[in-house]
Amino acid sequence: MSRDVNVAIVGATGAVGQAMIATLERRKFPYSTLKLLASKRSAGQEVQISGRTYVVEEAVPEAFKGIDIALFSAGGDVSLKLAPEAVKRGALVIDNTSAYRMDPEVPLVVPEVNGEDMFGHKGIIANPNCSTIQMVVALNPIYRKYGIKRIVVSTYQAASGAGQRAINDLRQTAQAILRGDEPYAEVLPVSKLSKHYPLAFNILPQIDVFEENGYTKEEMKMVNETRKIFHDQEIAVTPTAARVPVVYGHSESVYVETRAPFQLEDIKSLLNAADGVVVQDDPAQQLYPQPYYAAGQLEVFVGRLRKDLYEDNGLSMWVVADNILKGAAWNAVQIAERWISRDGVKH
Ligand code: A2P
Repeated sequence: MSRDVNVAIVGATGAVGQAMIATLERRKFPYSTLKLLASKRSAGQEVQISGRTYVVEEAVPEAFKGIDIALFSAGGDVSLKLAPEAVKRGALVIDNTSAYRMDPEVPLVVPEVNGEDMFGHKGIIANPNCSTIQMVVALNPIYRKYGIKRIVVSTYQAASGAGQRAINDLRQTAQAILRGDEPYAEVLPVSKLSKHYPLAFNILPQIDVFEENGYTKEEMKMVNETRKIFHDQEIAVTPTAARVPVVYGHSESVYVETRAPFQLEDIKSLLNAADGVVVQDDPAQQLYPQPYYAAGQLEVFVGRLRKDLYEDNGLSMWVVADNILKGAAWNAVQIAERWISRDGVKH
């Protein structure tokens, strides 16, 4: 690996930005300089990383001078404004927001699935939505061998996917309900009704805003991103996305109909051999993936594998991953690792 990579993190003070820093350290990413960027509010703030002090700077266009790789996770508006500035100054942008995901010029990459797409970039590579990432990692080996006609997926998404304030909401509404007080939630969901719904002791079948077709924006991301990643506009995806009172780790109940018939044992061996997948599937031992145990891990956990009772080509599975790591920070750092290991920092 090249050792003279200058890295910047935009949104370094946020939940994903912090996880990006931790993941670079965990992976011993060979950066020679690391620049932490956030809003003006955080400029001057000191951050300790592996015994060294870093000072957060304001994210402005000039900050990208000399940067080779810029990891963005400061919201779509910041990416729309600053990613082109970073590219103009010679940086490769890996963007964790939805700003560029459906742009035909921008590769949407999950390294285990369509890693090669990243090499066609024109300065920006997009990181998919967290729920899409873990689903396509689990489905990829099945898709490659048997093809996939249809996916019906229900998500059980953690509070952390909506940011630090949503985690605070979950904790604080749980405490209020346990005390017997009226809960007051601040962020989940952005409700037009008189009060916001608590996440504690509750499930919210809404993530992001509703579109005209009755699906939420989060659900439509799963439809459109899955097709783009597999380069297959024929896959039918029917999602329902829900927020559950879990802090870290998204879970998904995934039902797929393959194009060709399969044997369950073969699906298990394919998944056992798949990059980035851990199979936890032993009903006799009550072994199955759970977000509590997936939190902090880099892999995608798959279990509850079973054939449909009625549809010959139908398969059900339970898929869990840390939404902040594989769903965001780790997928971005993994793209950066592949990039420098293949092409150095030249592009
Ligand atoms: P700041 O802490 O200075 O507000 P989260 O998703 O956890 O809320 O984090 C959002 C991240 O995006 C934070 O690091 C935040 O920095 C950063 N951010 C928000 N607005 C801007 C902006 N206008 N310019 C640069 N960074 C921003």
